[in-house]
Amino acid sequence: MPRVALYAGSFDPITNGHSDLIRRSLSFVDRLVVAVASNISKQTLFTPEERTDLIRAAVDNDPRVSVQHFQGLTVDFAKQAGVLMIIRGLRAASDFEYEYQMALMNRHLAPEMETVFMVPSLDTTYISSSLVREVARFHGDVSSLVHPSVEAALIKKFPKT
Ligand code: COA
Repeated sequence: MPRVALYAGSFDPITNGHSDLIRRSLSFVDRLVVAVASNISKQTLFTPEERTDLIRAAVDNDPRVSVQHFQGLTVDFAKQAGVLMIIRGLRAASDFEYEYQMALMNRHLAPEMETVFMVPSLDTTYISSSLVREVARFHGDVSSLVHPSVEAALIKKFPKT
């Protein structure tokens, strides 16, 4: 039986922190479903389609990674996709409380679902999509924070004029 996991997020846009988790998870799963949440309360810069395309580019179209967007509950989408393992990253102690609560709520909703917490690489722990967007908005250098195709998409969104 191939081992499959799901990694959900808003990915607005995908950063090197997300890519690090994707790469690490592929060391113990055969296939990873990256699920792009499209009904989140966050106002996003990129459309679900753009976020999906950028993830595919950032993973260099790795055939082990499938990228789909979804609406509704993550656990429902996971079940629909036939996945029983959810991957989450714990960047700092401050992530823990929220992640713990979400994992328990997901377990309440779908007891068969298991959440696996991963430790990201130290040099990506300070990265978040909103900080990347903010740096890009004011034309700061994001080249070491995101994949080149994401950098290009950000430059297009925030032209220097
Ligand atoms: N490296 C870099 N950045 C990371 C990261 C990592 N390893 N892990 C998380 N982040 C960033 C994200 O980019 C995000 O940044 P932002 O707030 O600036 O956009 C931030 O840290 C928070 O990440 P996360 O908690 O994963 O939020 P999210 O918005 O990306 O995803 C969902 C949240 C989509 C997983 C969650 O809201 C969800 O499951 N929604 C569907 C409805 C549902 O099922 N709700 C849960 C019921 S318990």
